[in-house]
Amino acid sequence: MQRTQVGIIGSGPSGLLLSQLLERAGIESVVLERRSRDYVLGRVRAGVIEQGVVAILREAGVAARLDREGLVHHGVEIAVGEQRQRIDFASHTASLVVYGQTELTKDLMEARAASSAPLFEVEDVVVEGIEGTRPRLRYRHLGTEHALDCDFIAGCDGFHGVSRKAIPANVLKTHERVYPFGWLGVLADAPPVSPELVYARHERGFALCSMRSATRSRCYVQCALDADLAKWSDARFWDELRARLPTALAAGLQDAPSLEKSIAPLRSFVAEPLRHGRLFLAGDAAHIVPPTGAKGLNLAVRDVHQLAQAFVAHYSERRDHLLDGYSATALRRIWRAERFSAWLTSVLHRFPGQTSFDRGMQLAELDQLVNSAAARAAFVEAYTGSQP
Ligand code: FAD
Ligand code: PHB
Repeated sequence: MQRTQVGIIGSGPSGLLLSQLLERAGIESVVLERRSRDYVLGRVRAGVIEQGVVAILREAGVAARLDREGLVHHGVEIAVGEQRQRIDFASHTASLVVYGQTELTKDLMEARAASSAPLFEVEDVVVEGIEGTRPRLRYRHLGTEHALDCDFIAGCDGFHGVSRKAIPANVLKTHERVYPFGWLGVLADAPPVSPELVYARHERGFALCSMRSATRSRCYVQCALDADLAKWSDARFWDELRARLPTALAAGLQDAPSLEKSIAPLRSFVAEPLRHGRLFLAGDAAHIVPPTGAKGLNLAVRDVHQLAQAFVAHYSERRDHLLDGYSATALRRIWRAERFSAWLTSVLHRFPGQTSFDRGMQLAELDQLVNSAAARAAFVEAYTGSQP
């Protein structure tokens, strides 16, 4: 029988960072991951990190490369048809760092490998005894059954993980909105069309031009939920993106072979409570935001930072007030990010069956956003995560 203080399911950014923060506070943990290390490192996802989150990553000792290589942005562009408007963050003393989740995961894995690396390719993780004082994780690894006794279990296993399902159905409430479209994303070695991100609302659908470096672009176009990746050649993707951008930007867009191409469905989802007995949910296991607001990774980091502080209070001060308050405090922050992400999604995308009134509402919202100083300030607060 093995033992640890905190058993962590999942080695995405939330599981890895929680384990890292706990170690720095002298708290032991074990991370169990279903996939291989290469698979986890191969996933291309988020790219935009809030300054407050960068501060947490520095505190965790994993921000050296991010500080060297991350691109600091002080504004973002919103394009509506041919109209282009820049929203400036600097005047609100906020900024964002563009740094790929893949790179952050690599940095976290390296930090963890130096002490206690996750256990990869574990199968059939089962969560037991969370209502008692000795929760246990059972799993199979390399054909052998194992049991890990824990003081607490952290469910950091993403939306499709097992931890949320361990909360009894009569306790767990879920709130969900599924969007009738997805995002088709391409990563390519092409210089970004613009030095800052461009979010575009177009009659053909939403488009986003993001980046990973001065020479690598990450771009997305809104697509049908049942879109067939095989039918999206690179040329078709670039042509569609070009068609949705203002002419001046489209003219500078260079085609390049895709290094990665994938479709992500869009969803808003909140589970509550985030704690049941000795199980705590964090990151995508607890909530999903549509990627439009660039909030998912940022929320995950803030969740585990809060959770790590709660474990520290438990172990070093013998005080459980932060563990007891985790769910309510995190949910307030989560709902605010849900609101922003759902709103930005609703104004920038083309919805099937959308009426001319719906279209008028979208355009009026975007007009207000770019032309009202108060609306811009509220956007900057939410988008950069600088709200109090
Ligand atoms: P995950 O990264 O999903 O990690 C969960 C881990 O648990 C996985 O490794 C999984 O294999 C493992 N696991 C699952 N089940 C089990 C099991 N039964 N046993 C063991 N292990 C298990 N967020 C932003 O903040 N900014 C952005 O710009 C942004 N852009 C995005 C763009 C796209 C296209 C997508 C899809 C997402 C984007 N996000 C963004 C969201 C962000 O990627 C996620 O919120 C983030 O990955 C959440 O991290 P996590 O560790 O909670 O979950
Ligand atoms: C990304 O760079 O992948 C990215 C940026 C902003 C978003 C979503 C994704 O809103």
